[in-house]
Amino acid sequence: MTNQATHQKQIILSGMRPTGKLHLGHLVGALENWVQLQTEFQNYHLVADYHALTTNPDSSKITEYTIDMVIDWLAAGIDPEVSPMFRQSQVKEHAELHLIFSMLITTARLERNPTLKEQVRDLRLDTIAYGHLGYPVLQAADILLYKGEVVPVGEDQMPHIEITRELARRFNTLYDTVFPEPDGRLTNFARLPGLDGKRMSKSVGNTILLADSPDEIKKKMRTAVTDPQKIRKNDPGRPDICLVFTYHNKFNPDEVPDVRTGCESGSLGCVDCKARCAEKIIESLTPMREKRLYYEENISEVTDILHEGENKARAKAQETMQDVRKAMNMGVMGD
Ligand code: TRP
Ligand code: SF4
Repeated sequence: MTNQATHQKQIILSGMRPTGKLHLGHLVGALENWVQLQTEFQNYHLVADYHALTTNPDSSKITEYTIDMVIDWLAAGIDPEVSPMFRQSQVKEHAELHLIFSMLITTARLERNPTLKEQVRDLRLDTIAYGHLGYPVLQAADILLYKGEVVPVGEDQMPHIEITRELARRFNTLYDTVFPEPDGRLTNFARLPGLDGKRMSKSVGNTILLADSPDEIKKKMRTAVTDPQKIRKNDPGRPDICLVFTYHNKFNPDEVPDVRTGCESGSLGCVDCKARCAEKIIESLTPMREKRLYYEENISEVTDILHEGENKARAKAQETMQDVRKAMNMGVMGD
């Protein structure tokens, strides 16, 4: 059985809402992890295009955003041959399983979801769409359709994994054991702060995009906040409270001791320090930028990759739905 090893690989389902070009936070917080996990596990990478509509039903940019995001996935090194990439909206079984799961959870449980409460507060929503309340139910369908066992996520997504586990248990006890109870796997690198020291977010404009040119990266780095006590070049600074130092840790590990000594002693000024950091970021993004340019000129390859991924995903999803219908005695007649 030459295929046995492949069959035994645990299944990972990872997903992102299509929000366009990705930034360093996505790379450090998710993508690098995805790339690393792709040999050890069987990965499925989902473009959560329905989820993107939960807080804003405007779908006019969804295709552009999807292509931009998938290009960044490819540029970061996800291999579509082994890890299918697909749009949630193109595999109809997501909608079907979502409907079934929606019968197995109460609105009270969904109203208690802390991620929803945060969004209501941050986005100042005064009403919630029915589909927004059901966000974690759709996410559970995303994961369980592929019998996902591991889900790489950020802290904010853990409540959704908990709901996924509850739905898997509920289905399994009510009907028959079809689903695994997936584990959320937090990424090991702490969240990378934005250039203003706050949470990195595209809407705030404090990000470096994977697609940024060397000049843009240098320019953006110059705007980064540093230790406010280091005013003049030779003032001693505190690297541990400086976000530029966090970036050195990530992108320039070899020079970290040197940067620390230079900063603390005052021999290194912030302008030079930032320029050194920018060089290293540029260096590590260069291969990605080149791959990105290739795909931008060959968009049809990207759409082919999606279509192929969708065929593979659909096959797996249909298999699971057969198990689901059988367990539920829905529509299985005769034999
Ligand atoms: N909710 C996830 C996010 O905002 C995106 C997502 C949708 C997802 N479906 C998923 C993540 C399934 C992991 C698994 O980041
Ligand atoms: Fe930050 Fe570097 Fe300035 Fe120190 S020298 S405060 S680490 S930018």
